[in-house]
Amino acid sequence: MKPFFGANWKMNGSGLEGLSWLQTIKESSGDRACSQLVLFPPFTLLPVLAEDAREAGIELGGQNLFFEPSGAFTGEISASMLVEAGCTWVIVGHSERRHVLHEDDATVGRKLFAALGSGLGAVLCVGEKIEERDAGQAGDVVERQLTSALGGSGPVDGSSLVVAYEPVWAIGTGRNASPGDIETMHALTREVLSRVLPGDAGSRVRIIYGGSVKPSNAAGILAVPGVDGALVGGASLDPASFQQIAGAGRAAP
Ligand code: PGA
Repeated sequence: MKPFFGANWKMNGSGLEGLSWLQTIKESSGDRACSQLVLFPPFTLLPVLAEDAREAGIELGGQNLFFEPSGAFTGEISASMLVEAGCTWVIVGHSERRHVLHEDDATVGRKLFAALGSGLGAVLCVGEKIEERDAGQAGDVVERQLTSALGGSGPVDGSSLVVAYEPVWAIGTGRNASPGDIETMHALTREVLSRVLPGDAGSRVRIIYGGSVKPSNAAGILAVPGVDGALVGGASLDPASFQQIAGAGRAAP
């Protein structure tokens, strides 16, 4: 399995910045055959970036989708619209959607079903809040989020699913989970995937880490057993930093 690196721009970036970001990546010497790089820009930039992304060997993804295929859902976007805009991936259940925009587990599950059913690869985000970790509930929270989302997802081709373990308290804060905690949470995630998904699909899902990943800590995080890549927010706005993070993944044992 190739390591997976996602650049989650959130609500940042212009078309010009996106094109310049892709140009930098295209000109760099990194060997993109060794890892899968996916850029998640704001929706409006997807058609602007599609051609340059293809040339740069970078895939595009949406940061969110709605579970209905079309209709009177003001402000929402469907899986087929993302595909038409050039996406091969979509993020589902990011903590900012769960906790700022109040998406519940059931909604996340319906979105995952819609994404996979339309042929998009999905990055399913899970992770506990600090009060849940302090109460010793981190494992229970992540297990609940996984089983709830995957319970209704139908047959899953493991390679089109990525699970991002992102402790909420580590996102955008400069804090990271300890290597031991990351290893424990990734092992728990693998165990749940193997139990919930049919056959050996669970063994083909990549489990990546997210939350304040940057060039200075990437090698340490990516060397933790069971870490198959990273979902990068703030540091991904700088293409050189994102390249360094992906490069640290290639160097990791
Ligand atoms: P961060 O964001 O790298 O800025 O912490 C990660 C994420 O939200 O996926």
